[in-house]
Amino acid sequence: MKVLSTVLASLASISLANASTIVLPRDGTAEEYGAVALAVAERALADSPSGGYAPASVSCPADRPTIREARGLSANETAWLPIRRNQTIAPMTEWLTRMNISGFDAASYINRVSGNASTLPNIGIAVSGIGGLLQAATYVAGLSGGGWLVGSIYTNNFTSVETLRDGSPKSSVWQFGNNILEGPDSDGLQIFSSADYYATIESEVNDKQDAGFNASLTDYWGRALSYQLVNATDGGPAFTFSSISDMDNFLTGDIPMPFLVTDSRAPNTKIISLNSTVYEINPFEIGSWDPTTYGFAPTRYVGSNFSGGIIPDSEQCIRGFDNVGYVMGTSSTLFNQFLLQLNTTVASQTLRNIFQDILDGLSEGDDDVAQWQPNPFYGFNNDTNRNAQSSQLTLVDGGEDNQNIPLYPLIQPVREVDVIFAIDSSADTPYAWPNGSSLVATYERSLNNTVENGTAFPSIPDFNTFINLGLNNRPAFFGCNSSNMTGPSPLIIYISNAPYITPSNQTTFTLSYNNTFRNAMIENGYDVATQGNGTIDSQWPTCIACAVLSRSFEKTGETVPDACTTCFNRYCWNGDLNSTTPASYEPAFKFEEVNIQSGAIRTIGRVHLAPYGALLAAVVAAVLL
Ligand SMILES: *[C@@H]1O[C@H](CO)[C@@H](O)[C@H](O)[C@H]1NC(C)=O
Ligand SMILES: *[C@@H]1O[C@H](CO)[C@@H](O)[C@H](O)[C@H]1NC(C)=O
Ligand SMILES: *[C@@H]1O[C@H](CO)[C@@H](O)[C@H](O)[C@H]1NC(C)=O
Ligand SMILES: *[C@@H]1O[C@H](CO)[C@@H](O)[C@H](O)[C@H]1NC(C)=O
Ligand SMILES: *[C@@H]1O[C@H](CO)[C@@H](O)[C@H](O)[C@H]1NC(C)=O
Ligand SMILES: *[C@@H]1O[C@H](CO)[C@@H](O)[C@H](O)[C@H]1NC(C)=O
Ligand SMILES: *[C@@H]1O[C@H](CO)[C@@H](O)[C@H](O)[C@H]1NC(C)=O
Ligand SMILES: *[C@@H]1O[C@H](CO)[C@@H](O)[C@H](O)[C@H]1NC(C)=O
Ligand SMILES: *[C@@H]1O[C@H](CO)[C@@H](O)[C@H](O)[C@H]1NC(C)=O
Ligand SMILES: *[C@@H]1O[C@H](CO)[C@@H](O)[C@H](O)[C@H]1NC(C)=O
Ligand SMILES: *[C@@H]1O[C@H](CO)[C@@H](O)[C@H](O)[C@H]1NC(C)=O
Ligand SMILES: *[C@@H]1O[C@H](CO)[C@@H](O)[C@H](O)[C@H]1NC(C)=O
Repeated sequence: MKVLSTVLASLASISLANASTIVLPRDGTAEEYGAVALAVAERALADSPSGGYAPASVSCPADRPTIREARGLSANETAWLPIRRNQTIAPMTEWLTRMNISGFDAASYINRVSGNASTLPNIGIAVSGIGGLLQAATYVAGLSGGGWLVGSIYTNNFTSVETLRDGSPKSSVWQFGNNILEGPDSDGLQIFSSADYYATIESEVNDKQDAGFNASLTDYWGRALSYQLVNATDGGPAFTFSSISDMDNFLTGDIPMPFLVTDSRAPNTKIISLNSTVYEINPFEIGSWDPTTYGFAPTRYVGSNFSGGIIPDSEQCIRGFDNVGYVMGTSSTLFNQFLLQLNTTVASQTLRNIFQDILDGLSEGDDDVAQWQPNPFYGFNNDTNRNAQSSQLTLVDGGEDNQNIPLYPLIQPVREVDVIFAIDSSADTPYAWPNGSSLVATYERSLNNTVENGTAFPSIPDFNTFINLGLNNRPAFFGCNSSNMTGPSPLIIYISNAPYITPSNQTTFTLSYNNTFRNAMIENGYDVATQGNGTIDSQWPTCIACAVLSRSFEKTGETVPDACTTCFNRYCWNGDLNSTTPASYEPAFKFEEVNIQSGAIRTIGRVHLAPYGALLAAVVAAVLL
């Protein structure tokens, strides 16, 4: 199985990626937490007009929702961007100053370029130990397990990552020690049995079906996920993804714009390949920049019966289809397999019966897809849209096309992203380490004239070269030289999973997941992002700052500081190739391996310095084990 790959560290666009071939995250022993009421009414995001999981009809707004061609950014994103970019200036100045590029006055540089959106570095999100950059990021993207983090942070009012990581006594959120198969110990109100958990989920999905919508296993999976990820009673069945755009801190530009990525299956096919149409889901829209579908639907009104890009006058508008758990589940359908484990792992016959009933209602072979029905793109762009004649849009895990890092929304030229941090925990090699395959896939797609449709990507070497040159064992920059690309593309800061203190190449379904090992994984993830807190390279923070500024330097003609030239010489891939078949890739620990038998973990202080990185690492640990 491929695992969580994420973008951590800081930057311009952080991609939280994940899984590609099979799956099965772990689950674990139940943890204790109190049963205390969470008032759904207080949550900003419980937006479904039904008040529950089912979508419901509403009066259409005077301007009836339509599907638009993917010619540029949406009016909503265009209007939001200047507000957000302005809010990034102060934190970016503060962060760059702290990164301390010797011989360079970052504060006065940013002050000079801040008046011009094209020269102000366009940064995604900071999820790493380099605190402060989160506030400077414009976008954050996730797919599959990585989408869980993105979805969860936003549905929990952009709560701090520490809060998510540490959990809170009143909440079951992020208690990955709980067995997702058996459900949480409480629903937020009362003690909850596994049978109640399944019965509640089943009843929620039944409500959706009763309202006239088909359900797929992803509906159940999305509900189960929500108990772990959405901090509200019963996992917030009424929470929608589009309502993120109504959050105060989103409206005021205080938080970045989130994306989840998913792939689509053409009708009557089961194959997902690099030429499959890729979709992004953001709070405003769901759609694709690809030359096939080439259109966007308003996320809030998905579920309405669009035809030829409009909702016919005879049809009402529907809201509430874009349930946040369903959206997260759609981006992570590979994990649907996890639910199928119930059959063999749960002892209770009652539970098995409930689950078997659920599965019996689903058509065969569709256990790993999300059926979005009605298809918003029905009758839209008939000549090119592969799903134009289909009443349903079949979406699957965003990593299934092997683009395991969700770069797609971030490399669209209209977004003008300057730098993307990609932390890759894919399990590409026999021993479950990454070898750059995900970047290779995105690069290959960018070279195919029939699918790339204007996207460009830096040159990326073959995966043998990644191993032979160690590009998967230490951070590497791609696209440093912007003339060596097929078009405008961000610089990629690639950081791949490597063993520092514990074997972080964990990919199997582990039934129990103890805190000792979890903490070691968190620590290891933090070490990956920070190169052992600077132990391996004390200039690493400077080098990240240089990468963030690189495109801006080019645009303004700024002399590149010597400290940055040193960094670029050290981290930029210089075009060397060595494609010979390498020996088995079995990387050594960079530091002494910690003893996870005893609980002797050298940690914790640093983790608190790096809440975002730590959480992300926690996600890596939680999701992939
Ligand atoms: C997008 O912008 C339009 C026009 O200003 C507005 O009516 C609509 O509510 C916005 N949609 C979202 C999801 O914010
Ligand atoms: C930009 O942000 C600053 C600081 O938050 C604020 O004072 C100013 O009004 C903003 N300008 C615009 C054009 O939004
Ligand atoms: C969301 O977070 C902001 C900033 O911390 C806070 O002011 C606001 O009250 C929170 N909203 C809800 C609904 O919890
Ligand atoms: C969950 O919500 C409760 C009540 O609103 C809050 O006290 C707690 O901090 C939240 N927990 C997380 C992890 O967001
Ligand atoms: C490029 O994409 C087209 C259309 O999707 C596909 O048929 C073709 O095989 C791809 N070419 C390569 C070299 O992958
Ligand atoms: C590309 O997509 C088309 C249309 O779905 C399909 O017929 C073709 O086999 C695909 N090509 C590859 C290389 O996957
Ligand atoms: C992308 O595809 C659409 C639809 O096929 C086409 O109209 C548009 O010109 C393409 N854009 C680029 C930059 O090739
Ligand atoms: C569950 O187990 C039963 C008995 O072994 C089997 O008949 C059934 O197909 C299984 N269901 C799934 C979804 O694997
Ligand atoms: C597109 O296909 C739909 C569904 O078959 C059809 O009703 C519609 O007329 C077609 N539109 C165009 C412009 O051909
Ligand atoms: C970029 O550099 C690589 C390695 O030197 C080379 O193979 C590739 O063709 C170059 N690409 C472009 C677009 O210049
Ligand atoms: C992790 O990698 C080491 C070698 O680096 C290997 O011995 C071990 O079997 C791998 N673990 C898994 C789960 O693949
Ligand atoms: C924690 O889990 C790991 C991996 O399964 C195991 O090797 C180790 O013995 C466990 N440690 C404790 C303290 O239970």
